Amino acid sequence: MRTVDLIQKKRDGKKLTTEEINWLISGYANGTIPDYQMAALAMAIYFKGMTTRETRDLTMSMVKTGEQIDLSAISGIKTDKHSTGGVGDKVTLILAPLVASFDVPVAKMSGRGLGHTGGTLDKLEAIKGFQIDRSQEDFIKQVQEIGISVIGQSDKLVKADKLLYALRDVTATVDIIPLIASSVMSKKIAAGADSILLDVTVGDGAFMKTIEEAEKLSRLMVDLGKEVGRKTVAVITNMSQPLGRAIGNRLEVLEALDIMQGKGREDLTHFICELAQIMLSLAGVEETLETIRKKLVDGTALKKFEEMVVYQGGDLNDLYRPSQSAVQTEVFASEDGYIKALPALEFGLFAMRLGAGRAVKTDPLDYESGIVFDKKVGDPIIKGDRIAIIFSQEVLDEKLLTEFEKNVKIGAEQVKSKEIIKIIS
Ligand code: URA
Repeated sequence: MRTVDLIQKKRDGKKLTTEEINWLISGYANGTIPDYQMAALAMAIYFKGMTTRETRDLTMSMVKTGEQIDLSAISGIKTDKHSTGGVGDKVTLILAPLVASFDVPVAKMSGRGLGHTGGTLDKLEAIKGFQIDRSQEDFIKQVQEIGISVIGQSDKLVKADKLLYALRDVTATVDIIPLIASSVMSKKIAAGADSILLDVTVGDGAFMKTIEEAEKLSRLMVDLGKEVGRKTVAVITNMSQPLGRAIGNRLEVLEALDIMQGKGREDLTHFICELAQIMLSLAGVEETLETIRKKLVDGTALKKFEEMVVYQGGDLNDLYRPSQSAVQTEVFASEDGYIKALPALEFGLFAMRLGAGRAVKTDPLDYESGIVFDKKVGDPIIKGDRIAIIFSQEVLDEKLLTEFEKNVKIGAEQVKSKEIIKIIS
């Protein structure tokens, strides 16, 4: 086989066989196929797509480029979750301990943020001392002992995804369904959990811009999971505005702590309870939203979170410390009305420029900076109300502040915004 012929085949809209896909992916992972050829192939897939069979082959060939974790030493149905990326998405920080507090083991490997989207690992590293690099043995031991562990994805898992994701990121080939589905599902399959909750974000701040696209991606990933014997459910969730109040690593940890003390926004609190109900049900545990909410706000989930922080070397005394950004800038409403839109992409990029996110993988992070919104879409406002506080290390220039203010859209009519749009099982 020759790579150039297979690139041409896909470029011309033909289907690649199982053998061809295996050959391409193993060749890329072992270094015999160079980045420039894989970039051309990714672009050909971008324009010509892949069938369900090709996507399944791609997923399974990617799984084979690394180790698969065996979680069988942990008793019970092990659960995992994955988000396709969002702004202000601190769900894992709250959902994982909440689910674990029902004695359902959560063994989760998370990723870092890139561009306008955040990553759970970065948020955890905003906690002083928190270790995200653990051996497989320690990971399993921790879940056996305290029922929860959230760590960074091992280098030994799905080598092809590590290489391909970095390549897609710099070749404008991230937002395409077969490549997202195979990237997400290869990691989830290799990570070994019995059940998987997929949070498929849709809207301005997500890779999927329409509900139709999100449904297609969800259906494909759910079917891929089921085919390999994993109970899989996808929840299509709204990412047209940032999730919850905070964007930025430490600020999001603080918001997660607020939610786990019953002091968070009602919309995010309810959303987390709904996700927990689905995740628990995947593990065979049926609970009412009332019971789940009780454990979320009465300190039970928080205790589990603190247990995980301590186990992974985090400093509990530092956990509740407020952001140490040098400058805090308040933004006020210029008119009466309702918040009509807070475009997630714009605010995600804004937070990234403050240092809360990375434009490229090697960028250092400022864990303290970001945005906390007092008002969200649908909230009534009167002129002079505070809409947000911007946390930064330097005084914001006028242009940047004006840009922020322009992105806060105010209207006369109240718009309703809901978090869960659809469930695909
Ligand atoms: N998240 C992933 O893990 N992979 C993608 O391709 C997109 C989002």
